[in-house]
Amino acid sequence: KDRPRVLSGIQPTSGSFHLGNYLGAVQQWVALQDANDAFYMVVDLHAITVEQDPAQLRENTRISAAQLLGAGLDPERCTLFVQSHVPEHAQLGWVMNCLTGFGEASRMTQFKDKSAKQGSDRTTVGLFTYPVLQIADILLYQADLVPVGEDQRQHLELTRDLAERFNTRYEPTFTVPKAHILKETAKILDLQDPTAKMSKSASSAKGLVNLLDDPKASAKKFKSAVTDTGTVVSYDEEEKPGVSNLLRIHSALSGQSIEQLVAHFEGRMYGALKTELAELFTEWVTPFQARTRTYLDDPAELDRVLGLGAEKAREVASQTLATVYDRIGF
Ligand code: ADP
Ligand code: NA
Repeated sequence: KDRPRVLSGIQPTSGSFHLGNYLGAVQQWVALQDANDAFYMVVDLHAITVEQDPAQLRENTRISAAQLLGAGLDPERCTLFVQSHVPEHAQLGWVMNCLTGFGEASRMTQFKDKSAKQGSDRTTVGLFTYPVLQIADILLYQADLVPVGEDQRQHLELTRDLAERFNTRYEPTFTVPKAHILKETAKILDLQDPTAKMSKSASSAKGLVNLLDDPKASAKKFKSAVTDTGTVVSYDEEEKPGVSNLLRIHSALSGQSIEQLVAHFEGRMYGALKTELAELFTEWVTPFQARTRTYLDDPAELDRVLGLGAEKAREVASQTLATVYDRIGF
């Protein structure tokens, strides 16, 4: 390895990414692709932990890959692939299942939340073990850094535990990875309910900004974002969670610091912040959508990119798996 290895993934579940996915994850992926040897994937194996329509899943996987390219991932500078194209993920996933305690898997809060919503009859065993598959996703590439949002922190801790467990039980094999979580964008909040994270499954339509929606509709959502009854634009996560969320989004899109923004909006009210944010988002999302569309309009090029990505990923993944199989006695 000549440079640090970076690995991350995103689910193709609903076609369009939302603003939380972009700012919490994808924007970091783009920023990390040059200084690191970066592997990024669309995690379709994770998507089937809940029931999917096959044609829709196939379509959403392509839309997701096109959005990653539209957001600025460059297949010349990183490895972009689809998880199911690399069979080693499922293979190492099984090994990791056999190393993970039922109790420690049961403590994963994402699983507890999601399964509580679904009810135990509709919850699959796959959903239960998805954090373990995620461990395999990361360890296969000997990743040093995993850029994710705050909701993934607990899974990354488990990944580190499992890497160390394998290394101790057999012999040093896996790099022990670190989460790369940027405080300011790790938890983008629902625009209508700034006590909750923006989420494709839990947010209301007005609270969720989908990147592929009509920019005019998204601009309206910024303008009608829920804030407090005050008027002074200042950063206070406890007292002004809605305004603070808008400031964080502005900062991530404009590159200006929160302090600069607070100074910039001095003497102006929330409406000024909302209007400027709506414009800023529209300026960013319009070319993003155009670039995404060029990849969707050229299926052969998208196939070529994903085919090359899968080949590059398999070179690394198959080496790791061969070593692992040898160490466990296969
Ligand atoms: P979701 O959490 O909406 O189901 P994914 O599980 O596919 O979406 O998450 C993809 C990436 O987006 C992960 O790194 C996750 O941490 C990040 N992410 C999701 N929601 C948010 C949010 N509201 N704020 C910041 N990052 C987020
Ligand atoms: Na998530």
